[in-house]
Amino acid sequence: IKRVFSGIQPTGVPQLGNYLGSIKNWVDLQKDQSAGGDNPHELFYSVVDLHALTIPRDPKQLQKETFEMAAALIACGIDPNKSVLFRQSAVAAHSQLYWALGCITPVGWLNRMTQWKSKLQQQQQQQVESAESMVTESNFSRLNVHSNAAQGLLTGLFTYPVLMAADVLLYKATHVPVGEDQVQHLEFARDLVAHFNKQYKKKHFVLPTVMLTPSKRIMSLKDPLRKMSKSDPNEQARITLNDTDDQIARKIKKAPTDSISGITFDPGARPGVSNLLSIYAALRDTDPESAALAMQSLSNAQLKEAVAEAVISSLSPIREELRRLLGDQEHIERILGENEAKAQQVASANWKEIAKCIGISA
Ligand code: TYM
Repeated sequence: IKRVFSGIQPTGVPQLGNYLGSIKNWVDLQKDQSAGGDNPHELFYSVVDLHALTIPRDPKQLQKETFEMAAALIACGIDPNKSVLFRQSAVAAHSQLYWALGCITPVGWLNRMTQWKSKLQQQQQQQVESAESMVTESNFSRLNVHSNAAQGLLTGLFTYPVLMAADVLLYKATHVPVGEDQVQHLEFARDLVAHFNKQYKKKHFVLPTVMLTPSKRIMSLKDPLRKMSKSDPNEQARITLNDTDDQIARKIKKAPTDSISGITFDPGARPGVSNLLSIYAALRDTDPESAALAMQSLSNAQLKEAVAEAVISSLSPIREELRRLLGDQEHIERILGENEAKAQQVASANWKEIAKCIGISA
């Protein structure tokens, strides 16, 4: 039996990278009948609205996007009778365990996180630019700017991986299906498990295993060297699950490829073509190499047509279902309420044990 946990930020309607790198895997786990009979796995999927607070958000907008994400997950096939689908903030123990884990987390471990380091770098860059624009004399110290960069960033962004570890450990998850960008955070969670067990001389937590799909890193449709992301300011760079058929076709048609003739899968030399093949393969349940072989004599334009067809036929039913669900807010609210009660039960039982183990009241 697998105990599965995964989370997604409340960014409204998810993009194709979320779907292929993660959500599709969540849905597939529901179908895994390998042990026969009922679903052998216990599945917990959370819309992580506490994580969303690390970037200042309008409260009304945050609520709306949390709700939309929950509806989108159901539209993608998350069945609330097979999976526990819940808002992270509805289960107080996430924050409680976050604090307990933060108190045993060395700062150095968090300093090493690449997502944090890239935020820090961006901040340094901005500070250098604004300092340079202000300073005309030679007394400007680049060094000084560098050492102060972290001061402008929010603590929550720094401790983000601790909350993520708390999410996983609170359910004693054995498996965590995510895209590649979350792997380092989960390695951190594994390190914390060992650290906690050693510190408290208890084998309380199990080591969570990361589950990746072959489409663990879907790239931008504008720049195939960057990952597809909701935060990309260019909307043409991503497909969102509620894009119209026309929008999907147009975005794929304009995606940069190369002038090599024939279709081959070679992410290093042909990142644009290879990204399209990865998308196609994930949707047609094949692998990119076989897809390339089957389409080897096609032109890039023909490949794009095939990819657009695959994306449209997979996403249009999801889009329609999402539209239907968003029209019945009470239904979604009721599902979340029921599922949150289930999540709370599991989480608070585990939190009681943890609290006892570390000597505080639960
Ligand atoms: P988030 O919300 O950024 O992304 C949700 C999931 O989508 C995957 N993903 C991608 N996969 C492939 N290609 C892409 N271009 C792409 N973009 C996003 C992400 O890897 C992720 O699996 N910190 C997490 C949420 C979280 C979580 C957790 C995950 C909070 N607590 C506990 C697992 C376990 C995040 O921000 O994901």
